[in-house]
Amino acid sequence: MNQATAQRRHREKLLFLMFAGAIGIVFLVYGGYQLIAFMDSTAFCGVLCHKVMYPEYTVYQVSPHSRVSCAECHVGSGADYLVRSKVTGIPLVFVTLADTYDRPIPTPVENLRPARETCEQCHRPEKFTGDIIRIHTTYLPDEKNTKKVDTRALRVGGGEFAVARDIHWHIGAKVWYLPLDKSRQEIGWVGVEGSNGQLIEYADPKRTAELTSQRIQDEKRLMDCMDCHNRATHIFRSPEELIDTALTQGKIDSSLPFIKKLGLDALDPPNSSLSEAIAKVEAIKSYYQASYAQLYQEKKAAIDAAVVELKEIARLTTFPDMNVSWQTYRDNISHQESPGCFRCHGKLVETTGVQTGKAIDADCKSCHYSLALP
Ligand code: HEC
Ligand code: HEC
Ligand code: HEC
Ligand code: HEC
Ligand code: HEC
Repeated sequence: MNQATAQRRHREKLLFLMFAGAIGIVFLVYGGYQLIAFMDSTAFCGVLCHKVMYPEYTVYQVSPHSRVSCAECHVGSGADYLVRSKVTGIPLVFVTLADTYDRPIPTPVENLRPARETCEQCHRPEKFTGDIIRIHTTYLPDEKNTKKVDTRALRVGGGEFAVARDIHWHIGAKVWYLPLDKSRQEIGWVGVEGSNGQLIEYADPKRTAELTSQRIQDEKRLMDCMDCHNRATHIFRSPEELIDTALTQGKIDSSLPFIKKLGLDALDPPNSSLSEAIAKVEAIKSYYQASYAQLYQEKKAAIDAAVVELKEIARLTTFPDMNVSWQTYRDNISHQESPGCFRCHGKLVETTGVQTGKAIDADCKSCHYSLALP
């Protein structure tokens, strides 16, 4: 082989390698992009992580945010969040494969994207004003499924810094707090920052020994949407709430005697498997057949429809594989089932400023009042 041929072959090889390399890079970039897009898709979270996150995915699908993708809240857009979430997401994939993940998945999520950036893509409480009315319709577990209607106006308010009012005042203002436990259920200290940077401080008088200024400095957090709306989309409703809703919507016929009680007996407390829950719901038919034979003939279609709906409620409340039920995750939006607003209100007392010793307001009417509807 002469030198010219060798050189030509060498050049060809080099060209081929460059060409292959370029194609490879294109594929890599495209493939990588596809992979990243796929990892961000709701299908990836919901289906691949089906086993781990099926409780969150199931209740998400029937929540007000069912059309907002997982990534929109958990990842966000922009290279910085992409890198961060993929890096922190990798260990999750490994523990999923190795089957060593926590059951239930612990909350709060440490690396959730800042709420102000996520939620405010779509909601701006600064622009809200006034009160919103919530009508709660509930039913007693008696023969008639007696209906009760309770109407409350919530002082949701809103507004920017100086004029912020009512419940959404907390985000118009700058409210710092110190959680004393990982789940942020125990709050020891609060500091409200004024426009001049000065703090009005509040403390839990029973926990003062733990409230060193160093700890406050290192561990304080700025209050945001998630400190109240931590169950904005993974809303684990109890069978009781779901049955009440189904009765109100007419999916369960409220003229069926004891239907609320029968549903509750089947589903609360949580069953150890979905098939167990479904079998108990199915048995409601035999109950009517035996105890209300004539009604069973007349209302067979309504009974069948109620059973179908109760099976759906079983699906939304039974997550034994992940040790999750409606009692697992605390909802901070209220103060009935968990401390919520009362983590601070009525508990912490002012330690600086003009009203030293005064507790953060817990007067019922500051937050809501009842309305009598005609
Ligand atoms: C509207 C915003 C939003 C969307 C959409 C969303 N999440 Fe979440 N997610 C949250 C919030 C808020 C938390 C609780 C954060 C906290 O308490 O720190 C959370 C928590 C979680 C947790 C931790 C366990 C728990 O229940 O607290 C998992 C797992 C999770 N989400 C998975 C998903 C999956 C899978 C999807 C899509 C199918 C999804 N999320 C969609 C807002 C969202
Ligand atoms: C991509 C848009 C989008 C994002 C991001 C988003 N939401 Fe929403 N949210 C909606 C829409 C749309 C509705 C109304 C759904 C309906 O009425 O069915 C809604 C409803 C709500 C409601 C009222 C629920 C109810 O029961 O009436 C609350 C509270 C809420 N969102 C809080 C949040 C919080 C907190 C976050 C951040 C974690 C968030 N949202 C992120 C679009 C969004
Ligand atoms: C101090 C607690 C608290 C904080 C902080 C908070 N909210 Fe709310 N928000 C509430 C309460 C309470 C309601 C009314 C109760 C309900 O909707 O269940 C509400 C209602 C809402 C609604 C429903 C309004 C409607 O007309 O139905 C939206 C949307 C909302 N908040 C978004 C946000 C966003 C976004 C943030 C953060 C920027 C935020 N909230 C911060 C407590 C809070
Ligand atoms: C981290 C502590 C903390 C939590 C949690 C908290 N608040 Fe507050 N809230 C405060 C502080 C501090 C003030 C201002 C001091 C005061 O009013 O006594 C305040 C003030 C308010 C006000 C009066 C605002 C105004 O118009 O001046 C309302 C209404 C209110 N909170 C409602 C709620 C509701 C509803 C919740 C639960 C969903 C809640 N808060 C949870 C700390 C908290
Ligand atoms: C710091 C604000 C705040 C104060 C003070 C407060 N509440 Fe509430 N309360 C709430 C919020 C927020 C909810 C949830 C409303 C909703 O989502 O419908 C609620 C819900 C309730 C509910 C209904 C629970 C349910 O699931 O239907 C009752 C009952 C109630 N409050 C009674 C009281 C009484 C009585 C007082 C006075 C001792 C009081 N509240 C003081 C904020 C407050």
